[in-house]
Amino acid sequence: MSESSPVTTLRGKRILLGVTGSIAAYKAADLVRQLKKAGAEVQVLMTDYATKFIPEITLATLSGQSVLNDLFESGDTKAWTKHITLGHWADLFLIAPTTAQTLAKLASGFSDNMLTATALAARCPVLVCPAMDHDMYLHPAVVSNIERLAELGYHILPPEHGELASGMVGMGRLPNVETIVEHVSMHLKKTLDGKRALVTAGPTQEPIDPVRVLTNPSTGTMGFALAQELAHRGAQVTLIAGPTLLSTPVGVDRVNVTTSAEMLQSVLSHKDADYIFMAAAVADYTPVKTHALKLKKQKDEIVVHLQKTTDILAQLGQLRSDDQLLVGFAMETGNGLEHAQKKLEQKNLDWIVLNDLHDEGAGFGTETNRVTLISKDGACYPMETMPKQEVASALLDHILVHCE
Ligand code: CTP
Repeated sequence: MSESSPVTTLRGKRILLGVTGSIAAYKAADLVRQLKKAGAEVQVLMTDYATKFIPEITLATLSGQSVLNDLFESGDTKAWTKHITLGHWADLFLIAPTTAQTLAKLASGFSDNMLTATALAARCPVLVCPAMDHDMYLHPAVVSNIERLAELGYHILPPEHGELASGMVGMGRLPNVETIVEHVSMHLKKTLDGKRALVTAGPTQEPIDPVRVLTNPSTGTMGFALAQELAHRGAQVTLIAGPTLLSTPVGVDRVNVTTSAEMLQSVLSHKDADYIFMAAAVADYTPVKTHALKLKKQKDEIVVHLQKTTDILAQLGQLRSDDQLLVGFAMETGNGLEHAQKKLEQKNLDWIVLNDLHDEGAGFGTETNRVTLISKDGACYPMETMPKQEVASALLDHILVHCE
């Protein structure tokens, strides 16, 4: 079992986990743990055969909920409609492992146990993870049941090739728990297919002379994490990056810039994006004059005259359309909420993400971040300290839910 912290965030998601009678049912214990660790609420449903492979008490303890198995549990007059309420409650119904028997029942619309009846009542996506022996998996009846399920709108996570419980090697192995959780997360995320996103990241450098610049310690990690997360969700992402050592996330178009003036030009040529996240630490001042030759250190003191740069985000706020989403960042060192709220209003934003450099785990160059998300309606959502990739995911989950 992996003890590493999950990269996936499923905070507040409600997941039904159906477990059927395969030897791989033992993996359901780790699956419940990882789903819970990622923040999901988990309700386990088991078939009778599944309880022969793993005791109900194990999954009940790990999920913190009684396991449901019988359509007609005694003692509760409402019990027989439980499959309906569960089917409406869940954000996703995951069936892992799914035996050939349950595949056949689902493909034919059977409702002879709690799991299959709930699948019929489910309004949420159902993700089926077949697991069985090689020859069973390749049998035409099983192949056609899987095809039928796909036609009916079920989502299928195919098994992997590898060592099987029978001792044979072949197709049929349940994918590892991390892979399943990653798929759960993908299915729960709002898809951004067809949407264009613009993200800025990193510092800018303002040249004083050919060998000296004014800059700041931003590494660009937060912006790169956001770009990656947006691309994962299907958006067409342009990342305008100041000087940083980070590599480009897969599927993201990167434009490298150095100065705030270059960033302004590049941002303006992408200003029609559906979502804009201005995470760059843009210099507020730039030297009035850039010396063509290196300044020689003749004097004890020198004065460099600076002038204000254009506030790129404020320009975007003026040019924006109503159906565009504009998100800014605020880096503060005191009175954070007040300053961030002022920036949100003055720059005409939908959201601002507040970082306070004094908060532990927040700021430049840290692996983690601690942010407060503030909406234009004045609502504040403080978040826990998390790795920056998780912060990016949580920010998007939150913002996108509010755009629906
Ligand atoms: N920003 C920008 N162009 C600038 C300066 C800032 O687009 N020339 C953007 C940043 O990318 C960020 C937001 O404005 O999204 C707030 O930046 P921040 O540095 O926190 O605040 P400033 O508006 O620069 O104000 P101050 O430095 O006085 O806090």
